[in-house]
Amino acid sequence: MVASVSTVAYLGLEARAVEVQCNLVAGLPKFVVVGLPDKAVAESRERVRAAMAAIGLALPPKHIVLNLSPADLPKEGSHFDLPIALALLAAMGVVDAETIAGYVVVGELALDGRIAPSPGVLLAAMHAGETGKGLVCPAAQGPEASWAGQVEVLAAPDLIALLNHFKGNQMLPGPVPGEVDPPGQGPDLAQVKGQETAKRALEIAAAGGHNLLFVGPPGAGKSLMAACLPGILPPLEAAEALEVSMVASVAGTLQGGRLTRTRPFRSPHHSASMAALTGGGLKVKPGEVSLAHLGVLFLDELPEFHSIMDQRGPRL
Ligand SMILES: Nc1ncnc2c1ncn2[C@@H]1O[C@H](COP(=O)(O)OP(=O)(O)O)[C@@H](O)[C@H]1O
Ligand SMILES: [Mg+2]
Repeated sequence: MVASVSTVAYLGLEARAVEVQCNLVAGLPKFVVVGLPDKAVAESRERVRAAMAAIGLALPPKHIVLNLSPADLPKEGSHFDLPIALALLAAMGVVDAETIAGYVVVGELALDGRIAPSPGVLLAAMHAGETGKGLVCPAAQGPEASWAGQVEVLAAPDLIALLNHFKGNQMLPGPVPGEVDPPGQGPDLAQVKGQETAKRALEIAAAGGHNLLFVGPPGAGKSLMAACLPGILPPLEAAEALEVSMVASVAGTLQGGRLTRTRPFRSPHHSASMAALTGGGLKVKPGEVSLAHLGVLFLDELPEFHSIMDQRGPRL
């Protein structure tokens, strides 16, 4: 029988729908994952096998084929473990395929069956909301997922707790949205002596959302005043806070699902590489520019930064 479970693949700040299909056919016992899995996804076979053994289930002695559809979309990350395990359990008849069809599933499995966090849960929750489904995610990320609003979130600590919930033996408690962090403690503009023109420029830039360039002798207080900027910016609106958190969620820096109302302040060193600044890579990761979204990108010692031409040209 073929069973399928919905999950997502992360592409930058986008979550694309992925369906995990599992087919059990008679033949030599084998367990294969197809559909452009990367190394972490291909290795999920071993984690799924161990996690199922930990809850007392053996893999059926059949030819097990798991397909991640659409097959031409690269699948990266460890969050495919749980949907793979659930598709397999549904194909084995352990869980009801119709019940899990109503959920988008993300989570990494530990060898003992625990469900471990993986970056990007907020995006998966928003995607689940858009497609009218619920979300199954790691217990540690329940508070983060609940920020998505009207989405049923099943935040399970381990595989056995999730199976008990689906069987109706013991229901999982609904997660509470993470707390909102109090505004951060940056330097205060009031502690800057004099420099009235520069302070006024700072206030105008903060009020209008303008770019600002400080030029002056060393020790004049340029870096200090730039660091004061987040303190005088208005706090993030609720929708903005969610947007900033989505970037942090993809970068994996959202601690304990806590949303922050403070605007980000990123101050990359001038020797940072272009990839660190702009992000990218095969598994698209946000760089400093994206992490500063709706906040401040502070380029201290601006002339020291390499230009794009420096970095592109041949290094002799
Ligand atoms: N107008 C000022 N009021 C208070 N402290 C100042 C002022 N100007 C400079 N400082 C202090 O002097 C030090 C050097 O300032 P900094 O901001 O690093 O200067 P710059 O970046 O212009 O070289 C900092 O510790 C800062 O606290
Ligand atoms: Mg300075």
